[in-house]
Amino acid sequence: MNVDNLLKQLSTKEKIGQLLQLAPFHFNVDLKSEVAGRVRSLNIDTEGIFLSGSVLGIRNAEEMLDIQKKYLDNSKHQIPLIIMADIIHGYETIFPVPIALASSFNPRMAFETARISAIEASTAGIHVTFSPMADLSRDPRWGRVVESFGEDPYLAGVLAANMVKGYQNDGIEKVGNLAACVKHFAAYGASEAGRDYNTVDVSRTALHNTYLKSYKKALDAGARMVMTAFNVLDGVPATINQYLLRTVLRDLWKSDVVTISDYDSLKQVLDHGCAENEKDAAYRAIQAGLDIEMASVCYVNYLEKLIEEGIVDIQKLDEAVLRVLNLKKDLGLFDNPYKGASVVREKELLRSKKHFEISKKIALESAVLLKNEKVLPLNKKQKIALIGPYARSKSTNGPWSWHGNIEHNKSLEEVFVNHKINLVYTSEAESINQIEHSDYDQILKADMVVLALGENTRLSGEARSRSDIKLPNQQETLVKMSHTLNKKVVVILFNGRPLDLTNIIESDAILESWFLGSCAADAIFDLIYGIANPSGKLPMSFPRSVGQIPVYYNHLNTGRPLLETNKNNEFLSRYLDIENTPLFNFGYGLSYSSFIYSNLRISQLEFDVDTQLRVSIDVTNESQIPGYEVVQLYIRDHTAQISRPVKELKKFEKVWLGSKDTKTVEFSLDIHDLSYYDAYGNEIYDSGKFTIMVGSNSQETMKIDIWLKGVKHDYQKQSSNQSS
Ligand code: GLC
Repeated sequence: MNVDNLLKQLSTKEKIGQLLQLAPFHFNVDLKSEVAGRVRSLNIDTEGIFLSGSVLGIRNAEEMLDIQKKYLDNSKHQIPLIIMADIIHGYETIFPVPIALASSFNPRMAFETARISAIEASTAGIHVTFSPMADLSRDPRWGRVVESFGEDPYLAGVLAANMVKGYQNDGIEKVGNLAACVKHFAAYGASEAGRDYNTVDVSRTALHNTYLKSYKKALDAGARMVMTAFNVLDGVPATINQYLLRTVLRDLWKSDVVTISDYDSLKQVLDHGCAENEKDAAYRAIQAGLDIEMASVCYVNYLEKLIEEGIVDIQKLDEAVLRVLNLKKDLGLFDNPYKGASVVREKELLRSKKHFEISKKIALESAVLLKNEKVLPLNKKQKIALIGPYARSKSTNGPWSWHGNIEHNKSLEEVFVNHKINLVYTSEAESINQIEHSDYDQILKADMVVLALGENTRLSGEARSRSDIKLPNQQETLVKMSHTLNKKVVVILFNGRPLDLTNIIESDAILESWFLGSCAADAIFDLIYGIANPSGKLPMSFPRSVGQIPVYYNHLNTGRPLLETNKNNEFLSRYLDIENTPLFNFGYGLSYSSFIYSNLRISQLEFDVDTQLRVSIDVTNESQIPGYEVVQLYIRDHTAQISRPVKELKKFEKVWLGSKDTKTVEFSLDIHDLSYYDAYGNEIYDSGKFTIMVGSNSQETMKIDIWLKGVKHDYQKQSSNQSS
């Protein structure tokens, strides 16, 4: 298909139609669509509907085939619809939520999650997924940390890139693959006070050094679309932000991907107070470089008029439409508008045994053992009291899993019974108030109390921010009750954000299981009974209190840092009532194995900008239990033109170590691992001292100092830059 010629045949109205995305119900009004509630009010006429370019959300192959056929029967130029949907961590086989996937620190798990999601979703004729979400977040009050890869730019970038590769695999034109749309561009995770849709105000250096990196890695991996965020940046809504959509995306990154708004985020520009009316909003969006408008009609209602009035150059419209037509061509839709949709493949592939096995494998690597006072692994002879809101719950899919049916999941109780564990007491009680006095006799018979605690899945996700990040509904009282009954207690957490666990830290063991998806209960059972060995690491710090937020590992030093060496000094950056450090730090996670690090070495201590550094360390599993260890490499740049974090993750490797095994783990570093960006997005590196830190988490590392030679600090250049 020659899309340049096709574009020439389109009227202005037909071109504008390609930039509209509607919910499926518009094409077949007797369909109930779960995402379309607010779209009904668009008052768009039939002509407008059959000129639109793409569909948001679809339920199955039958619906897709019906809509695409109905559309093409009414389409003069036979330009097929693109079918897009939110396939975030699985389609019908549900995988661990992204924050859990990030805890695996295993890029292969991200690839496989996306791979199976694409295979399943494409059977419904879906062509594009609004994933990966690459928003970096340091605020667990924000409900959407559940969809994120946590607080570190490098980890988030590696996982986002691997999800893109998993979705797109050997080409988006192929059946079984999806085009990836990275979101939400940009810095949505920095919403003030962790309140969703709230103001974002970050500096340009923070933008380039922290928030933009993961989107860039997804684009470098080949993502074909970018979705704009709801928030403002520099006071300008991301959906009409020229700095983001033209300066960064087109000029700096040389990207020609399609841009799409978030759900009616273009119309929301009026609520932001950045457009008088929808005509203004349309003008600012097309000037900024927004292509597709999702679920609002500013373009449809005003773009033609703006062009007729000579306010908008039609070339801007042509650019946007050409990007959309090229995406349709690259998806193979001109050759086969029904690509992928197959009732037969749906029956054969959805929730297959193989897919569930892969989901369980990923779940096993995504849980994080936070504490274990020699009570785990349990043995099957122990009598167990299983208590808590997740004792009998199957709701382990987490948010953004609407194609997943929890009826296909198991509950913890079910799995315990299947394994013939002696459950002397089971209750879904959320607090001590819900435990009958008569029950205590039963609980006293137990050798161990297992508490299945956490957040209802509707406390995480979009529009699900919390001001208090403790366990809800006094669940903490169950820990105290267990200890009052002189019982050891294992806590299993089901939650979508780092929680304030200060009040349950006296538990004898804590397993953070997040929302592990379709096979959560089986995976948790294997982990607490030692059939599998926990290997997850935290992708986000767990605060001691909500008052510490934001608390994150890659923080700046400040001019008055609180250190071990000066903590008696009063005038330091500190609280009067709590430590600065989080309760659990980034990169932390226990294993049943015991790993010892030794012999950190580096190819040279002095290097220049062309040097390829090799860092090696020996890791020994001194236990009898084989297991995975995530070896993490951090750097510190001691002197630069801007203040640099006290440490930054730059490499990691997950290695398997048998009992008494020793492995030498090697990393290579170059100048781009040590550089940073100025406020203009220019890469900078300065001579001077760096520290390389390698270890099991961000706080426990071996260190070695190295020196970059031959690059002088050009402070003059930096200040002159700022004037330009
Ligand atoms: C939502 C979300 C976005 C999602 C889109 C389409 O509001 O912000 O992540 O992809 O709408 O459902």
